[in-house]
Amino acid sequence: MTDLAPPRRRALPMLDVPAPAPVAASPGRPVPADGRLAEYGPEPLALPRFFVWTLGCQMNRSDSEEMAGRLLAAGCEPATAIESADLVVINTCAIREGAEQKVIGRQGQLRWLKDTNPSMRVVLTGCSVREADRAGLGRRYPAVDLFLRPDEEPELVDRLGLASAQAAIGRIGGPTGAVGTTTVVGRTQVGVAEHLAETRAAAVGGGAIARESSISAWLPIVYGCDKTCTYCIVPFSRGPERSRPFDEILDEARSLAAAGYREVTLLGQNVNSYGHDLPPEPRFRHIATERWAGRRLDLGSRPDLAELIRAIDAIRAADGAPALPRLRFVTSHPWDLSDRLIEAMAECSSVCEHLHLPVQSGDDTVLRRMGRQYTIEHYLERLDRIRAAVPGIAISTDVIVGFCGETETQFEATLRLLERVGYDQVFAAAYSPRPGTPASRLPDDVPAADKRRRLNTLLALQEGIGLEHNRTWLGREVEVLVDTVTPPRSHDHDAGAGEGPRRAPGEVRLSGRTRHHKLVHLAGDPSLVGRFVRVRVDHAGPYALRGDLTQPIPTRSSVGEPERTPAAV
Ligand code: SAH
Ligand code: SF4
Ligand code: F3S
Repeated sequence: MTDLAPPRRRALPMLDVPAPAPVAASPGRPVPADGRLAEYGPEPLALPRFFVWTLGCQMNRSDSEEMAGRLLAAGCEPATAIESADLVVINTCAIREGAEQKVIGRQGQLRWLKDTNPSMRVVLTGCSVREADRAGLGRRYPAVDLFLRPDEEPELVDRLGLASAQAAIGRIGGPTGAVGTTTVVGRTQVGVAEHLAETRAAAVGGGAIARESSISAWLPIVYGCDKTCTYCIVPFSRGPERSRPFDEILDEARSLAAAGYREVTLLGQNVNSYGHDLPPEPRFRHIATERWAGRRLDLGSRPDLAELIRAIDAIRAADGAPALPRLRFVTSHPWDLSDRLIEAMAECSSVCEHLHLPVQSGDDTVLRRMGRQYTIEHYLERLDRIRAAVPGIAISTDVIVGFCGETETQFEATLRLLERVGYDQVFAAAYSPRPGTPASRLPDDVPAADKRRRLNTLLALQEGIGLEHNRTWLGREVEVLVDTVTPPRSHDHDAGAGEGPRRAPGEVRLSGRTRHHKLVHLAGDPSLVGRFVRVRVDHAGPYALRGDLTQPIPTRSSVGEPERTPAAV
């Protein structure tokens, strides 16, 4: 695929994900070379039309791509809506009660759909499925036929009895053979991600990942989480950390480069601890134990995130430029943000000038109660260092307001931190107790009305800070990776970027992101989707920028780099 080819989009039928493009032909059902054999192929109507409903974070979106890929490889067709599906796969999020309620609240509709289509099956997976909860799951989700923990997702096709169809069409072999195992986290039995690296590699090798986009790709590098943030359900849903082997990640990155992807985001609940659980190898002997801010990380000849991003950055096109022009990673835990990583970010041209560094609270006492393992002093020291190494880097964060025992003064410390740091973006939420987590045993003593007020105060403050940041881009030329054709006028109010971009005849509203992860609206030809363009910013809102193309022919690569052919890697 050359850079100028129109981007290929295969949309997954998912809710909670930006408007999908029309569904491309499924690669699942092969056409026999001899037409007379067609009648011996798998019976199309015997296989369910499926719909994947994805809630939650990027990790879930990536997992859904894998499940949809397996279903397509098994010969199933995607449905465009829940109503027309025979198989509904719900990939849940349990981070706050509200996320779980969204799915619980749809049980009546699902039961009604099952009454009208008796062959319909509902599978529930993702973070709401925890071993300890199995008994209660049936009561809370009465429309569901099959529950799979996140680590059991590779078994989806087998458990639905579709493995034989999959084997018959010879896509990725027969049954996956994956069997989820469990361990104990706290007092809870949870799934472990032991086999996920292996099943991922098989899915990548068999082409069984139905990626949402042909421009930007998710690339999971570490499953689970070893941290013990007291409010958080994730370690109980996703189990302990398991890093994917270094070379398998590189193989996947190379295949994404060869397929013409422009951007890759490495995924993990804490990508900064990547590699600590892998076996030591002589080739990583230069990676030694690192010590900073009182913290020691035992790496001893194991790969780390810094090594990984350097290796991905080193995948080069024929002209020597990074084959994947934009590299991102989420999420970073401040405790594990190493000097090695900061140096690698500064030195690798593909690594984007944006860091998501969740702080959660601006008060040390609250942080201690949250089990976050760092102080504000340490957090600010890390930020100073990254800002010195990567001048102008955009910083975003997560904040929880109204955590157990949070006083008004402690909340105000968070407001002062927001002002001091000057975040580009803040994702804030009111604390929601999660059953089984350590904090669920503390009194949830901040009244709901106070949580709401604090949240609104914080968001209002951040709106001003975000606007101030965005105004610094006015008049500047930025590189935008165009990824979306925006439906007419829909963004004008949401995005806060004022009126939509001025359009000439034949032009449509487009949007994309800068390397600093700023959302930019512009007008242009729909063929620009998937390309880098240069835009002069002429309007800044708190959440988005707007501008005009500065050159009729888009650039082919990232910031000021020469043109290159991505296929030549
Ligand atoms: N691994 C990432 C993010 C995990 S969840 C990290 O460590 O930052 C994403 C965000 O959800 C968290 O950063 C936190 O701000 C929020 N969150 C997690 N548990 C929550 C809870 N019980 N109530 C409210 N917000 C929560
Ligand atoms: Fe949850 Fe903390 Fe792990 Fe993030 S680092 S997933 S907040 S336990
Ligand atoms: Fe939600 Fe699980 Fe992600 S709880 S935020 S989907 S890891």
